[in-house]
Amino acid sequence: MPYPEIRPRRLRRSAAVRRLVSETRVDPAELVVPMFVKEGLTEPRPIASLPGVLQHSRDSLRKAVVEAVRAGVGGIMLFGVPERRDPTGSGGIDPAGILNVAIRDVVAEVGDATVVMSDLCLDEFTSHGHCGLLTPDGAVDNDATLAAYAEMAVAQADAGVGMVGPSGMMDGQVGVVRRALDAAGHTDVAVLAYAAKYASAFYGPFRDAVESALDGDRRTYQQDPANLRESLREVELDVAEGADLVMVKPALPYLDVVAAVRAAVDVPVAAYQVSGEYATVEAAAANGWIDRERVMLETLTSIRRAGAQIILTYWAVEAAGLLRQRH
Ligand code: PBG
Repeated sequence: MPYPEIRPRRLRRSAAVRRLVSETRVDPAELVVPMFVKEGLTEPRPIASLPGVLQHSRDSLRKAVVEAVRAGVGGIMLFGVPERRDPTGSGGIDPAGILNVAIRDVVAEVGDATVVMSDLCLDEFTSHGHCGLLTPDGAVDNDATLAAYAEMAVAQADAGVGMVGPSGMMDGQVGVVRRALDAAGHTDVAVLAYAAKYASAFYGPFRDAVESALDGDRRTYQQDPANLRESLREVELDVAEGADLVMVKPALPYLDVVAAVRAAVDVPVAAYQVSGEYATVEAAAANGWIDRERVMLETLTSIRRAGAQIILTYWAVEAAGLLRQRH
C-alpha cells in the first residue's frame, strides 16, 4: 500500500497552522460602506430588497458614519435620494441638493477619520432615471453629460468630499472630471473610476434604494457581461485620463475581470459587491439555506483573493466587527 509522501493536509490540521499559512486576509481598512440619504426624511427607513440597509435621514446618517468610523471601515460612499427629479438631474449639481448637503454633514462629523466618497452620476437625480442627459430622440448624450459631470464633481469637491466616483460610463468622464477639479483648485480630490462597470441585473435592489424608475436599460453605456478585454481597454483609458483608483463592478460574478485588471494596472483596484449580490445572500440566509456570516466572509475573501485591494460592500460595518474578533 503506497503512502503519500507529500501531505498538503499537514498545513490544514489546526486553526493555528491554517492561520499561519493563510494567503489572504481582509482588513476592515479595505472595506468601504455605501450609504443612502434621502431628502426630507425625519426617521431612517428600511429598504425592503436590501434588508439591514437604510435610507438615512440627515440625522441618522451622521450617527451611522460615526459608527462606521468606530468599526474601522476605510471609507464611506454616499448616494443621495432627492425629493424631486428633473430631466437634467439639476439636484446633483445644486449645492443645496441632498447629496452635496450630506457630504458637508458627513465631513463635518468625521473629518479625516475615514475617506468620504460620493457617487458622481446623474441617475439618482434625473426624472427618466438614466445616468446622463438625453437627446431629443431619447438617446443618452455623451458629451452634454460630461459637462454636467464636470459641474457635479466641482459641487461635490466644494462640499468637502475626498474622493469622487464617476459611475456613469460616459466616454471621457474621468478626464473631464479631473480637469474640472483641477481648474477649480481641487487638485487634492481623488478620482475613483468605476472603470469596468457592467450592465448587470444585480443592481436591482439599488434602484429601490434610490427610488429610480428606469425607463429602458443602460446597455448603450454600461458594458456587456460577455466581455473581458473591453474592461481592460476601459481601465487603460481611465488610468490615462487620470484615475487614481479603478473599480470593477459587480464583484463576485466578475472575479476574472478583477484578476485581469489587477494584473494590467498598478493603481489600486477596487471591486463593488453590489446590491443584488448582497440581497441574494441575505435572502438565502433568511430561509436558513446558507450560513450568513460564513458566506459573507467567504465572498469578501474571494474578492480580495482575486486581486481587489478595496471592497465596497453593504456588509462593511458588520464585517469589520467580525474580522476584528478573528484577528
Ligand atoms: C450609478 C450607480 C449604480 C450603482 C452604483 N452607482 C446603479 C446603476 O449603475 O445602475 C449600483 C450599486 C448597487 O447595485 O449596489 N449611480
